[in-house]
Amino acid sequence: MNHIDGLLQAMTLTEKLGQLNLVTANRAITGPTTTTDIDAAIRAGKVGGVFNLWGREAISATQRLALEESRLKIPLLFGLDVLHGHRTIFPVPLAEAGAFDPDLWMRTARVAALEAAEDGVNLTFAPMLDVSRDPRWGRIVEGPGEDPLTAAIFARAKIHGFQGDDLRSPAALAATAKHFCGGGAATAGRDYASADISPRQLRETYLPPFRAAVLAGCAAIMPAFNCIDGAPMTAHVALLRHYLREELGFDGVVLSDYTAIGELIEHGVAGDRTEAAALALNAGVDMDMVSGVFLEHLPEALSRGLVKEEFIDAAVRRVLALKGRLGLFDNPFRLAVSCASRTPDALELARECARRSIVLLANRQVLPIDKNLRRLAVIGPLADARMEMQGPWSAAGRPGTCVTILEGLKAALPDCDVVHAEGVGLGRDDDHGVAGACELARWADLTVLCLGEAAHMSGEAACRATPDLPGAQQQLAQAVIATGSPNALVLVSGRPLMIGDLAESAGAIVATWFPGVMAGHAIADVLTGAFNPSARLPITWPRLTGQIPIFYAQRSSGRPPDEANPFTSKYLDVAATPLFPFGHGLSYGRASLENLRLDRETYFTGEEISVSVDVICSEDYARRETVFFFIHDRVASVARPVMELKRWRQIDLAPGERMTISLTLEMEDLVFPGVELRPIAEPGVFDLFVGFSAASEALLRASFNLLARPGAA
Ligand code: NOJ
Repeated sequence: MNHIDGLLQAMTLTEKLGQLNLVTANRAITGPTTTTDIDAAIRAGKVGGVFNLWGREAISATQRLALEESRLKIPLLFGLDVLHGHRTIFPVPLAEAGAFDPDLWMRTARVAALEAAEDGVNLTFAPMLDVSRDPRWGRIVEGPGEDPLTAAIFARAKIHGFQGDDLRSPAALAATAKHFCGGGAATAGRDYASADISPRQLRETYLPPFRAAVLAGCAAIMPAFNCIDGAPMTAHVALLRHYLREELGFDGVVLSDYTAIGELIEHGVAGDRTEAAALALNAGVDMDMVSGVFLEHLPEALSRGLVKEEFIDAAVRRVLALKGRLGLFDNPFRLAVSCASRTPDALELARECARRSIVLLANRQVLPIDKNLRRLAVIGPLADARMEMQGPWSAAGRPGTCVTILEGLKAALPDCDVVHAEGVGLGRDDDHGVAGACELARWADLTVLCLGEAAHMSGEAACRATPDLPGAQQQLAQAVIATGSPNALVLVSGRPLMIGDLAESAGAIVATWFPGVMAGHAIADVLTGAFNPSARLPITWPRLTGQIPIFYAQRSSGRPPDEANPFTSKYLDVAATPLFPFGHGLSYGRASLENLRLDRETYFTGEEISVSVDVICSEDYARRETVFFFIHDRVASVARPVMELKRWRQIDLAPGERMTISLTLEMEDLVFPGVELRPIAEPGVFDLFVGFSAASEALLRASFNLLARPGAA
């Protein structure tokens, strides 16, 4: 008999349910209620895992309770939200996504895993894989943006980074892909709100990152809080049991979100806590985070015939199997991790990641900052805002060590006279400092305006109906720009912000997101040109809140927007186009694309399609260039999006260099969920669009014909 069978046989029902119980230790508060007296519960064998705790000593002491004082001595899981770094805080995921570099995504997760493992953690509630097209939703900051392919590649990289090749390594973390699924489609961008997603949209947009996570060997999945089409994800039989378990063959742990099982009552699908527990278990949830309903109410559910004991056993098996995969039965303290947190290497990586995440949105010949600049004014509430640089979900970070923008610029420009004023507060409607800020701007040769959001305005429970510049920041910017001083606007935020007329009037606009511990140095690297910006928008940037949701992969319309025709799909008061398209991001100097070519005009189904394009760099700056490859199925049985990203390539170019990018598209790239939602590639004409962003006017275009293979059914 193997170890797990032996344990199962020895367990009482309470001990079995204990393994399914995930409690919070409250070092970080990440939900509305907390767990009390966890030590006694651990001794009684009523806890399978603890989260919101870190630190070797605290975790070892808690693990010892389970190993020395509980009857069966089963080691505990220790979970934490390690979303963008543990001790060394990296840029938020939305920022990092804009680097479009899977190797970088993997490396930051690896360092985060090492640091968290050193701190005793063995399970992370990351990566967050919610595709979202709604900047009102505060949690958009935690995910990879709007595009399902980017999200799927992000998923693979992060899981590989967290888990490494072998979960038994004490330096690995078990990863949790979350929130499965559709949280990013919450109605009106409100956290926890329901979503209505068609089965097609699920398959095309929201499920691919989770499929990628499962294929990458992700240890756990967390269902989302929301319901889809009336079924809360925590009890979603079709998606949890049929899709995840049966279709994808996921045999890891499904762990509920915070009190989500108990909330099935508020959702209106469970009459009491016993029914809630039964619904979640029957749908395929293994662990109950904080609700306590599995432990307290599954016995009654059993006696009422609402659940079968074999379902409980299967869940316990999966939890024990995860503990086995982590090596906890042999090495419960996971000793032998030593990475010396915040080594220069980790900080170097944080700086590299931050500067590769900063997007130069607009530049009217203001940047890079002239090295001989004499007088610089750094204005705004985010200029010297150390505590805000980390962004949300940085529990074990040390905000006090973050480098501010002011500090970064002073260090980068030692011979420049740098002055600073806040001007206005971060969220307050108080403009008394505007006049003083304008004085400084008039004195300066250049003003860097540092505006945006506080860290707490993004993340969970941080949705904004009007995601603009909070407080009096817009007035501050308008007044400073009106002085005529050359200026650059630096936006710190967890989402695209609606900046109104500043889009036109600012001299340059840079989106830094929340850049993490090395914020100031990375921003200075970009502003001074010590680093040529290369990041791209992983999300479409709207002009106005009323355009949301706006994203590049829209379907056409019977009446696509047409300036000359009023009876087409558009607004009276704003253009139908975004302020900045998906993939947008400038560098210093220029690049161009030429000579897009396919190896043939016609392909049979199953054949590879070879594509090449030339990239040319201007003579002035070396650059890292990202080239996106989109396709469009012109005529299909189901209307296809006007563009779908299928590949991107990143290359480094020396000044004046010309390089050819060659790649192949596979048949799978042409496949979509057909009328019956089964994957199909339909013969016909396909367009290939290649460009530096999804801006349709700047794309190179080619087309090819797909023919059914002779003899194929
Ligand atoms: C609630 C959040 O939705 C989830 O992402 C997180 O992992 C848990 N709280 C635990 O902190």
